[in-house]
Amino acid sequence: MTQDQLKQAVAQAAVDHILPGLNDKSIVGVGTGSTANLFIDALARHKGAFDGAVASSDATAARLKGHGIPVYDLNAAGELEFYVDGTDESDERLHLIKGGGAALTREKIVAAVARQFICIADASKLVPVLGQFPLPVEVVPMARSHVARELVRLGGDPVYRDGVLTDNGNIILDVHNLHITDPVALEASINQIVGVVTNGLFAARPADLLLLGTAEGVKRYTR
Ligand code: 5RP
Repeated sequence: MTQDQLKQAVAQAAVDHILPGLNDKSIVGVGTGSTANLFIDALARHKGAFDGAVASSDATAARLKGHGIPVYDLNAAGELEFYVDGTDESDERLHLIKGGGAALTREKIVAAVARQFICIADASKLVPVLGQFPLPVEVVPMARSHVARELVRLGGDPVYRDGVLTDNGNIILDVHNLHITDPVALEASINQIVGVVTNGLFAARPADLLLLGTAEGVKRYTR
């Protein structure tokens, strides 16, 4: 199977997983990226089964609206049962690195609100130890050099993601060569640096369910 077919399979598996829990008042949290886009397309076939969605990025909001799915402000949505999103890496404890699409902050906010965070990914995303994928850090622009120096002190090699501004108007530093032995501690340490909005480690709030697309079918991992 191609990587795209594996993404398609997990997108459909996520729809099958959440459908029994939806009703006409349900608002679904939706992530960002190519796998999340396939989830949106699959979810759109069941438009009558739920009320609408909360989007983790402007791009996701546009795709949802393109399917005629109402998009709500998170502040108006109340509690969410489900948040469905892709990832750049996951370990077996469902700690993640996210933010390849620069949407990490809004993704982390929506994930924090949802009772169930369902991560969907093709098999290449499951790794024994996080950190081969450079860790994205969203930074207030005027703090870029200060934050970069602090990230070097933590043992990483930050690289400015040229030409990218987040939906919040901030920049991204991608941190290479980190040795992530304790994802929860590192997530907290980086978030303590003044000027950091948030970083792409989802360890304090990991996923609850990972649906992983493999050649043998969709595998389910829980914490
Ligand atoms: C965006 C993300 C995405 O979930 C991550 O980059 C995975 O994307 P894709 O599904 O295209 O591989 O964190 O900020």
